[in-house]
Amino acid sequence: MSEYGPTSSTTCSPAQNRRSQSSSSTTSTTSSTTESQPRPLKPLTPSQRAFLSSALRVNQAGELAATLIYTAQTPPIVAREPHLGPLMRHMYDQEAGHLTTFNQLIAKHRVRPTALYPLWSVLATGLGWSTAVLGREAAMACTEAVETEIGGHYNAQIRQLLEMVAEWEADGYAVGSEFTDLIDTLRRIRDEELEHLDHAINHDAKKAQPYWLLTSAIRAGCRGAIWVSEKV
Ligand SMILES: [Fe+2]
Ligand SMILES: [Fe+2]
Repeated sequence: MSEYGPTSSTTCSPAQNRRSQSSSSTTSTTSSTTESQPRPLKPLTPSQRAFLSSALRVNQAGELAATLIYTAQTPPIVAREPHLGPLMRHMYDQEAGHLTTFNQLIAKHRVRPTALYPLWSVLATGLGWSTAVLGREAAMACTEAVETEIGGHYNAQIRQLLEMVAEWEADGYAVGSEFTDLIDTLRRIRDEELEHLDHAINHDAKKAQPYWLLTSAIRAGCRGAIWVSEKV
């Protein structure tokens, strides 16, 4: 995660900077020059690094699962309702884009992928196939349940990152563009997940039988998978 933190040359605090500046600035001209110097970045704490690593790991695992769910759902759904082909393709393409993003991020920051990759792959494929065999309503209820949990999951991550940003800014530190880019990426992906949720509801997710049991079980499974993937 070193890329999110500052280089060693920028690790002095703003207070230290101000002290060194005030000792050498004796005129108003010099003072205005020093005030325009860029603010330093604050090094990540061990717990912030651990949070970012686990966030990237769980996001990559979740997006892999999403691509596998749509891959398994699409043939049975489209065989019965060919008009849903473009929608299934659109949602798959967006999930594949999310997966590419997190594959690149975990490689760049040398984050270990989840050790339960094979297990999540089997479960996601099974979930996608079994809900699609039940019919369009069940497949859409699956998407509704998954995206409800994932939307909330991304929102929680965004909130935590914004709290880090607010803290750094309050202490007089700069916020690196790589960090703000990550927040923007999470917001874009969150919005696309919520778009999938809308598609699911518009395609009769709530008519699935038994709706409550299906969505409750899938949501509980998602929460469990998120919890485990953050750690393992
Ligand atoms: Fe996604
Ligand atoms: Fe999604």
